[in-house]
Amino acid sequence: MDNNDEEPVRLSLARLPTPLEQVHRIRDNWTVLIKRDDLTGTALCGNKVRKLEYLLAEAQSLGAKRVLTCGGIQSNHCRATAVAAAQLGLGCVLFLRTRTPPAPDVPATGNLKLDRLVGAEVRFVTPEEYQNRQALMADAAGAEGYVIPEGGSNALGSWGYIRAVDEMATQWDEPPSAIICATGSGGTLAGLAIGLQRLKLDIPLHGVAVCDDAAFFKSVIARISDEATARWPSLPRICADKVTVVEGYKGRGYALSTKAEMSDIERVARTSGLILDPVYTGKAFRPLLHEPERFGPRPLFIHTGGIFGLLT
Ligand SMILES: Cc1ncc(COP(=O)(O)O)c(C=O)c1O
Repeated sequence: MDNNDEEPVRLSLARLPTPLEQVHRIRDNWTVLIKRDDLTGTALCGNKVRKLEYLLAEAQSLGAKRVLTCGGIQSNHCRATAVAAAQLGLGCVLFLRTRTPPAPDVPATGNLKLDRLVGAEVRFVTPEEYQNRQALMADAAGAEGYVIPEGGSNALGSWGYIRAVDEMATQWDEPPSAIICATGSGGTLAGLAIGLQRLKLDIPLHGVAVCDDAAFFKSVIARISDEATARWPSLPRICADKVTVVEGYKGRGYALSTKAEMSDIERVARTSGLILDPVYTGKAFRPLLHEPERFGPRPLFIHTGGIFGLLT
């Protein structure tokens, strides 16, 4: 499906290009560029759609009849996969991690509500069972199932953000002083790092950890880069040291919020109309609010979506 040194086959699922906007009013005398990847679509929205364009193209080319993937109970990636699968006429099985599955008579909210609406088969798994997610999904896949790893974060999925760098480079007048995004399973950050290196753009890249730690994300980025160069040798190998993983903002932990985080989300919403989510972008935007000097005069924040997480 690809000739080893070119962009792999891609479906058109996202509304592209997404806008690159200047936002002025959040702080005095400060402008932040926002790459509006929350606007890749309505229900099929956020950063995951860019990855799914490649992953689902591969699923289709292999003749898959259904896709299987996994994440937290309110996973944006799982919801985007479920919506895209419905759009493409594929079945979808989701392995959702939770210690307390909702009772059947409790109405679903947020992403889970959309998972159910589009007809995805939902299987709740405990955090312990989730450790073996690859095996669980492989067992359930059968001959016609295509397994997408957590967050769509593998070498093929990383093409979504390799290509997003090409897109942004046509949109900015001058390169930003830094690019900042949330990092959860590492694929967006890895794709951005490869994409920047591919265009020889020496722009500092910061992934704000919403879970795990810097060592974890460095190893994920290195692994995805190794896989990508093995499959597409013309891609540059990235140096994980060139990527800064910003720690100190995951707060109480993955998908848990603090009052300070929620009040920053409110501040940004009220001063700019920009809606951040509590799990990813709300945390990732905080270093820009509290340590703006780290990112220079023209920071670019990638708004990776997640709005349904606010509605839970
Ligand atoms: C809204 C949102 N932002 C950021 C991320 C992080 O992206 P990645 O998993 O590629 O690190 C995710 C998914 O994990 C997400 O759903």
